[in-house]
Amino acid sequence: MKNDITYLGSIIRVDSETIEVEVSNDIPSAAPIINGRLYKIGQIGTFVKIPIGNIIIYGIVSSVSNTPSKLNENIRYDIGSRYLTVQLVGEKIGDSEFEKGIGTYPTINDEVHLVIEKDLYDIYGNKDEGSIEIGKHSSSENLSVYANLHKLVLRHSAILGSTGSGKSNTTVSILKAILNDYEGSRVILVDPHGEYSTAFPHAKVFKIKDDTNPLFIPFWLMTFDELAYFLVGAKPSDDQRPEHRLFRELITKFKKENFKLNDGDIDQNFIAADSPIPFNIRKIWDEMNWWLNATFSRPNKDDQTRETAKLLQESDFENLIGAKFEPYTMGASEPYKSKHQDFYNYEKKLLSRIKDSRYDFLFNPGDYKDIDSNKDLSNLLNEWIGSENKLAILDLSNVPFEVLDITIGLITRFVYDSMFWGRSETYTGKNRCLLLAFEEAHTYLNKNENNCYSKEAVEKIFKEGRKFGLGALVISQRPSEISETILAQVGTFIALRLTNSGDQSVVKKSAPDNLNSLINLLPALRTGEAIIVGEAIKIPSRVRIALNNPRPTSSDPELVEGWSRKHPYNIENYKTVIKRIREQKF
Ligand SMILES: Nc1ncnc2c1ncn2[C@@H]1O[C@H](COP(=O)(O)OP(=O)(O)OP(=O)(O)O)[C@@H](O)[C@H]1O
Ligand SMILES: [Mg+2]
Repeated sequence: MKNDITYLGSIIRVDSETIEVEVSNDIPSAAPIINGRLYKIGQIGTFVKIPIGNIIIYGIVSSVSNTPSKLNENIRYDIGSRYLTVQLVGEKIGDSEFEKGIGTYPTINDEVHLVIEKDLYDIYGNKDEGSIEIGKHSSSENLSVYANLHKLVLRHSAILGSTGSGKSNTTVSILKAILNDYEGSRVILVDPHGEYSTAFPHAKVFKIKDDTNPLFIPFWLMTFDELAYFLVGAKPSDDQRPEHRLFRELITKFKKENFKLNDGDIDQNFIAADSPIPFNIRKIWDEMNWWLNATFSRPNKDDQTRETAKLLQESDFENLIGAKFEPYTMGASEPYKSKHQDFYNYEKKLLSRIKDSRYDFLFNPGDYKDIDSNKDLSNLLNEWIGSENKLAILDLSNVPFEVLDITIGLITRFVYDSMFWGRSETYTGKNRCLLLAFEEAHTYLNKNENNCYSKEAVEKIFKEGRKFGLGALVISQRPSEISETILAQVGTFIALRLTNSGDQSVVKKSAPDNLNSLINLLPALRTGEAIIVGEAIKIPSRVRIALNNPRPTSSDPELVEGWSRKHPYNIENYKTVIKRIREQKF
């Protein structure tokens, strides 16, 4: 064996999963050519193998030195000797497949050999059933690297990398591989910058104010606390205030009245302020407005009822026009001013919220607006995840920043609930799993923010989603800002170039395989090159991901080109921009 051209040296130290190898002085070349390929000895991140009988143990070179890590004063070291530290990663017994983890440990003086291309094919094998191709191995452009789809999706994964490192392109590669290979696959992609529709011409893209597929997130999916916060700025601690209590009662009453629903009647006893039951928010405003402005034939609050009101004209709540009453007189004669002034603050705030067209996708949600509208939540689910289109892109680029968090929170919670309560149905839950992908995750899954609706909902998927067939993929350029609960549950890391040391150490800490040697390569990776570690991959690998066409629209602006030209002045120029700011529509 020592005469083999692949012979590298022998083991001088074994320390659980790490071994130290003394490279032999006799090896013919520091860069042997084997089967026409050049192999460089002692390259960090490359594989070595240790054959022991019919077992082959594989390891990854993590450091190279000209002195051993633990010096022994009694030994004279040959100058020029090289010492490799190698992390053991897995083994192959006889003709069986390569497996992660070490069952048999090597010992002092065992031979260590270079891994040549044929060995790599032995490790990576052919495409198994239930896997997708992620890319090609960095050291061999013909060698495909596959990921186990079940683990990639249901044990959750993360695509991390500095800006411009190729995250969006990697996302497209992975989703395309899933959608092309698996006819019944289902994916929802949360796309805050609206960059993915160009890359997936066959996907169903939902977007605010879109003519074909408008995005609606009905406000009545919110719990009472969420609704109270977004409509009138109230906090749960306002619970003691009379207007808050009345507001809760009013919403509960409206929801209870609407128990006859398209998706089936609901037992009224089960309906509470938090139940996702449609009701007309304009009627709530109308109710508040009516009692505030009404005049009555009686002065006492208790006698001021609908019957004693001095009504001149009914309201038109759909158009937010309040009812008209006889004007009250100043003296002690009728009509009397209303004593029902509890909603004085809430009414104005509510009105300005529902009038603001930027929030129409929430508070004026088209066919989901009210009990009389023809669509219910089953239609929403059917549109998102029930149709022939395997991929639904939720383009949130027009969602105002201040409601982005609650919007993603509502989407995530609703999808989670549908998987939880549908877990045993043939067409969803465990029988038809779903992948939810979150782009720009650091903006709304931030570990430093308390009270994040989206973070709470997404963390639940990471903790429990697997049991109901719901997997998640987070994509982010700032892993150090992402919730630790989420990172701790990520099974597979696809780490592209990461320059920030804080971000690198998060990957180092969270990555399931203890392979710092590979993670140390992160700042030096080329665009589109990734280190993949974790459950879905047979062996931690450095992978090149193909550049997709068509691409997401995330390419950089043409700075030099734009600044090199002269731009003519035109007084009309910014009118379109201002119109778009006002209408929030392209
Ligand atoms: N696999 C690849 N091979 C070659 N070039 C690539 C590859 N992936 C990405 N690129 C190039 O890098 C550019 C940026 O890629 P991409 O938009 O995927 O990066 P990103 O990490 O998502 O960036 P951002 O953080 O800005 O969203 C692309 O426009 C493309 O030109
Ligand atoms: Mg991107």
